[in-house]
Amino acid sequence: MIELERVTKIYPGSEVPAVDSVNLNIAEGDICILIGSSGCGKTTLMRMMNRLEPITSGFIRIGGESIMDKDVTALRRSIGYAIQQIGLFPHMTVYDNIATVPHLLGWDKKRIDERVDELLNMVQLPPDIFRFRYPRELSGGQAQRIGVTRAMATDPPVMLMDEPFGAIDPINREVLQDEFLKIQEKLKKTIVFVTHDIHEAIKMGDKIALLDAGQLVQYGTPEELLTQPKNRFVKDFVGADRALKRLNLLKVRDAMLTNPTHCHGEDPSETILEHMIENELSYLLVADREDNLKGYVNLEELQGHHGNVRDVVRPMTLTVKPEQNLKDALSKMLSYDLGIVVAMDDDGKIAGVLNSRTLVSVVGETYDERGGHWGRITTKGRII
Ligand SMILES: Nc1ncnc2c1ncn2[C@@H]1O[C@H](COP(=O)(O)OP(=O)(O)OP(=O)(O)O)[C@@H](O)[C@H]1O
Ligand SMILES: [Mg+2]
Repeated sequence: MIELERVTKIYPGSEVPAVDSVNLNIAEGDICILIGSSGCGKTTLMRMMNRLEPITSGFIRIGGESIMDKDVTALRRSIGYAIQQIGLFPHMTVYDNIATVPHLLGWDKKRIDERVDELLNMVQLPPDIFRFRYPRELSGGQAQRIGVTRAMATDPPVMLMDEPFGAIDPINREVLQDEFLKIQEKLKKTIVFVTHDIHEAIKMGDKIALLDAGQLVQYGTPEELLTQPKNRFVKDFVGADRALKRLNLLKVRDAMLTNPTHCHGEDPSETILEHMIENELSYLLVADREDNLKGYVNLEELQGHHGNVRDVVRPMTLTVKPEQNLKDALSKMLSYDLGIVVAMDDDGKIAGVLNSRTLVSVVGETYDERGGHWGRITTKGRII
């Protein structure tokens, strides 16, 4: 969708290129993260894509057509741009800021009103409170959210977002990231997204482009950067706590054991107790006939109990969905002392179960310095 070919930018009067012969191919519907230290050329690269910055040499094509052949106004209207400095018009209300481009495109008032409300709700700013505020009456994080909604106002197929959540506290940031990913799932826009935060990059990116001093060092999926860092620079950049980052990246579905053994509420306690002792189980999941999770039973409570399992079942309220990431699963797992967490489908049926051993086997990889590859540590301390 967006193709960069040997794109170079040398600012007038500068000796060194700010962007140095970058080749990049961004697929339609992908979120491509640009990441790298301050001054490495992220904003410059982005601004060349909508011709806010002239290209010194090289080519940029969007949808197969060189951006130089497009009408510059039409090009910019087809690309939403949330700038790093937020850049709200100070003398205009939130409403008018968001409505700028819809207005230029001649939308009627009703359509604009609805769109503004929809976008404000999306970024968790109640329209009734925020619609008619001025930028000076907003906190930095609120202003930034308005900046993002303004870029999205006319639903452009391509979005350039320069550190869109940079000024937002970690908790609201997670909420916005999740909200944003949910919307992206539906809209499938092509998004170029700058961040300094490697966790955000791993969570949000379909692909990550790591830049250093204007050059593209590695371009690949988050998984590739974590598990196959091309060189020392990438390895250091993605950081030492790779295992934890992989938790963020992998889904419950990737690690869960499917078809976990379980019993049913109407099973006799004595039979289940016998079964658990034979199989050395300290707990067992309980479901109804349709495999809907009812909770679990443990050994102590079954001992000496006469009747049905359903009388001693304990509720299991913290469950996960197969599409949640393993970090969420781990935090829920730690809330029970069972060392497991159950994955449930949308309709309440047991999809699988995660235990601490499966988690460790999924993320417990390490880098073999001598062999130059990633692998699991064996009990003898070897990396295979
Ligand atoms: N208008 C300009 N004129 C001259 N040099 C510039 C101009 N804009 C940026 N630069 C230089 O180009 C390089 C890349 O800047 P750029 O703003 O693209 O970095 P960045 O990766 O976005 O950094 P940050 O993470 O701090 O936002 C820097 O060395 C910067 O000083
Ligand atoms: Mg920048």
